[in-house]
Amino acid sequence: MMIAALLLAAGRGERFGAPEPKQYALLLGRPVLRVAAEALLAGGHVQALQPVCAAGEEVRITAMLEGLPHLPPVTGGATRQASVKAGLAALAALNPSAVLVHDAARPVIPAGTIPALLAALEHRAGAIPAQPVSDTLKRGEAGVIGETVPRAGLFRAQTPQAFRFETLRAAHEAASAEATDDAQLLEWIGESVALVPGHESNVKITFPEDLARVESTLQPRLLPR
Ligand code: CTP
Ligand code: MG
Repeated sequence: MMIAALLLAAGRGERFGAPEPKQYALLLGRPVLRVAAEALLAGGHVQALQPVCAAGEEVRITAMLEGLPHLPPVTGGATRQASVKAGLAALAALNPSAVLVHDAARPVIPAGTIPALLAALEHRAGAIPAQPVSDTLKRGEAGVIGETVPRAGLFRAQTPQAFRFETLRAAHEAASAEATDDAQLLEWIGESVALVPGHESNVKITFPEDLARVESTLQPRLLPR
């Protein structure tokens, strides 16, 4: 039973607002995407790591991943969904039984996440880490509250998201619109997706201040090397 992983690093990081995409930013001296790759490989579950990057960035990504086992990077697309599809096509020859789809902008994967996802795949075609929403939610427009949205049963989705490989490929083939994550593509083809506990430390670097926040949580674990 082969488990592959996609490391999605083809985004431009527009909200991050730096000259370089956020996945190249340094986290305690190491590129965010490298820390994310190490996190994916850490438990020894992943046998094939497929990086997906922007066109022309293959050499640079390979340098950032030096010393880690991975497949040659492939070029992503204009949207996250297109990047996943390109990564899945590259993995087809290996025919893995499962694939983890992970944002290179998420450098922290708590140790229990991947085992919980893989265990859930025994009963479902997909599984994602998610956290219950704790803030009160408001729907608003033009600076004014329209209504309070009941938060019961609402979750914040994280990555890595785990799927049976063939099901995720079929879901991408069937997609006729842009989804916000891969789990949504399974929802669209009527497959049920398991929720496993997510964690606060699994931050997606989106804005510059997220980098310092993640750095402060990583410090004790990275020293000494
Ligand atoms: N991603 C990708 N290909 C794209 C868009 C996004 O591989 N065409 C990746 C990003 O590199 C990131 C992950 O998908 O690791 C999650 O996307 P997001 O946080 O939205 O990153 P960006 O799209 O780069 O950022 P922004 O939306 O602020 O521009
Ligand atoms: Mg984006």
